[in-house]
Amino acid sequence: MTTTTSAQDIVAEGLRVIADGQAPSGAYVASPNFAEYNFAWLRDGAYCALAMDAAGRPESSRAFHRWAAMVIEAQRPRIEKIIGLIERGETIRGDDMLPTRYTLLGQPEVVVGEAWPNFQLDGYGSWLFALFSHLDAQLLPEFRPAVELAARYLSASWRLPCFDYWEEEGDRQHTSTLAAIAAGLRSASRLLDDTSLASTAEEVLDYVRAHCVVDGSFVKGPQDPRVDASLISLTVPFGLVDASDPVMRATIARIRSELSSPSGGIYRYRGDTYYGGNPWLLLTAWLGWHDRVTGNEEGFSSARHWVLSNVSDGGRLAEQVLHEPQSAPFVQEWLDRWGPVADPLLWSHAKFILMESEAVGRVWN
Ligand code: BGC
Repeated sequence: MTTTTSAQDIVAEGLRVIADGQAPSGAYVASPNFAEYNFAWLRDGAYCALAMDAAGRPESSRAFHRWAAMVIEAQRPRIEKIIGLIERGETIRGDDMLPTRYTLLGQPEVVVGEAWPNFQLDGYGSWLFALFSHLDAQLLPEFRPAVELAARYLSASWRLPCFDYWEEEGDRQHTSTLAAIAAGLRSASRLLDDTSLASTAEEVLDYVRAHCVVDGSFVKGPQDPRVDASLISLTVPFGLVDASDPVMRATIARIRSELSSPSGGIYRYRGDTYYGGNPWLLLTAWLGWHDRVTGNEEGFSSARHWVLSNVSDGGRLAEQVLHEPQSAPFVQEWLDRWGPVADPLLWSHAKFILMESEAVGRVWN
C-alpha cells in the first residue's frame, strides 16, 4: 500500500494489466491469477473496452468487440430457441439462457461441480453500449448480425428475473441490469436505425421509473429498497438519466452516505458478505468518474486519493481491500474457500482509467 504512487503510474500499469489480460482471441480475462475469474465476462470486458478506447488503444477494444460478436453469433441457435420459448409463453430455466461469462476462446464453460450463476442479462446490454461508443455510432457491416441478435435477445427477455451485477438474487429483477439493457437497446437502435428498439428501451426505462424508485431515489430493484453502487451506471456512463435529475442526485447522495466505508471507499451494497463485503476499488473509481464528469472536484479527488492509497504491490488494483469488512467473519471464510482476493482485477483498472480520462457519460440526443 502506498500513497506516493501517482495516478499516471496507475493508469500506465492499468494499460499493461488490461493488455496482458487480453487473450489472442480478443477476450479480456476478468483476473489473470484468480482461478474463479479465469473467464471473460461481457460486463467486465465492456468496461475494459471503454477504457482502452478512452486511452487511445482502439485496436484492443476492436479485438474485444470482434470476439464478443463472434461469441454471440455462435449462440444464434440458442438465442432463436429462447426467443421462441418466450414468445410462446413457455417456461424458461436460467440455464437455458445465455451465460454472463465465457471461456477465453468464447465458449460457454463446461460445468464442473457447482454451476456459476450464469444467467445475467446486463453484460449483453453493456456490450452493445460499449460497441456503440467504440464505433462512434457508425455500424460496420461485420458487427450487424451480432448487434441484431443481441438486441432481439434483450428485447424478448428483459422482463425475466436473473442474477444481478454481483451474480446474486437470481429470482428477481434489478435496476442496474434493466439500465444496462435499456442502454444496450438504445445503442442498437441507433446502430441499426431501428426505432422499435428505441421504443423498447423507453419501455424498460419507464418500468424502472415506475418500479425501482423509493422515496425519490433509485433502488436496487423492484423488490429491494436498498441502494447499490452499480446504480451510478444510470447516468455514468449510460446517460439514461441526467446527473442533475433529482432522483439521480438523491441516488448518488444515498450511495455516498450509505455505502462509504470509514476511510472513503465504496461498498457494493449494505449487507454484502463476499470476502466480508469490503469497499471495492472499481466502485470508488466509478463514483470518482461520476464526480469528475459532473464537476465535483472534491469527490473526484477523494476517490482518486482513496484508490491510490489502496494500490497493491507493483501498482495493481485488486477487486476489494480486506480491511474494512461489513461482516468480518466472512473474510476468512472466503479466503479459505477461494484464496486471496482477485488482484489485479481488469475492470478495477478500467474504471480507474476511465476516471482519469476525458471520457464522459453518454448524452443521447
Ligand atoms: C463480481 C462481478 C464480476 C466478476 C468478475 C464477481 O465477483 O460480482 O461483478 O463481473 O466478479 O470480475
